[in-house]
Amino acid sequence: MISVERPLAILSALAEEQVGLVEQLHGAQRQTHAGREFWSGTLQGLPVVLALSRIGKVAAATTTAALIAHFQAGAIVFTGVAGGVGRRVQVGDVVVGTGYVQHDMDASPLFPRYEIPLTGQSVIQADATLARALVFAAVVGLQGMQHAGRPATVHQGLIASGDRFVNGADETHAIVSGLQSRGYEALAVEMEGAAVAQVCHDYGVPFAAVRTISDRADDSAHVDFPVFVREVASVYAQRIVAELLRTLAV
Ligand code: ADE
Repeated sequence: MISVERPLAILSALAEEQVGLVEQLHGAQRQTHAGREFWSGTLQGLPVVLALSRIGKVAAATTTAALIAHFQAGAIVFTGVAGGVGRRVQVGDVVVGTGYVQHDMDASPLFPRYEIPLTGQSVIQADATLARALVFAAVVGLQGMQHAGRPATVHQGLIASGDRFVNGADETHAIVSGLQSRGYEALAVEMEGAAVAQVCHDYGVPFAAVRTISDRADDSAHVDFPVFVREVASVYAQRIVAELLRTLAV
């Protein structure tokens, strides 16, 4: 169940991914914890707290822990970009993560490949209600939006996180086939989701992420990345968040 009494935290990795949201905040208040800025207030009448996760798993985990400890976040949503690695996942599409795995987690032979040591788990599931709400918000919010002449397709499935920007076909193949060998079919790669999911899981806080596909994690993954984030992904994120808040507010 998503609490509307405790604030909904909205996280992004980069400032460009969260432009617009802070400006729309009512009664905005800024606090600093762990060297990070947190903005709290209301959006569409709902209490929210906005923060930048920073980049990478540890940075995102620190931000998530601060959101829970200092703001009593009732649920956490991540919006941002990712590299598409699923066969049908194209640039301009959107992936809602229903599960999160760390593709660089390897404590074998002490623990099975990908397993988070001492938890018995490799994949952390998203909160099903929040993930469904994000899918709905993405489908409704992106109606009529196109990128490179294609409407944005909304996918749902596994997101794989690791501490590297994946930008080579061989690297992508190694990550995807390694996961497949354990029965996991990743749709997208990024650098924070599984860490945020793990902290939320430990604290019992509902979590789900939505990622706009900025690249195919291949040799040209970095090309036009900042432009895409500014002109496409941030627009998509704003529309999805607006629709999500409309749904949660009723
Ligand atoms: N975020 C966006 N694209 C990415 C990629 N190719 N690898 C990791 N994180 C990403």
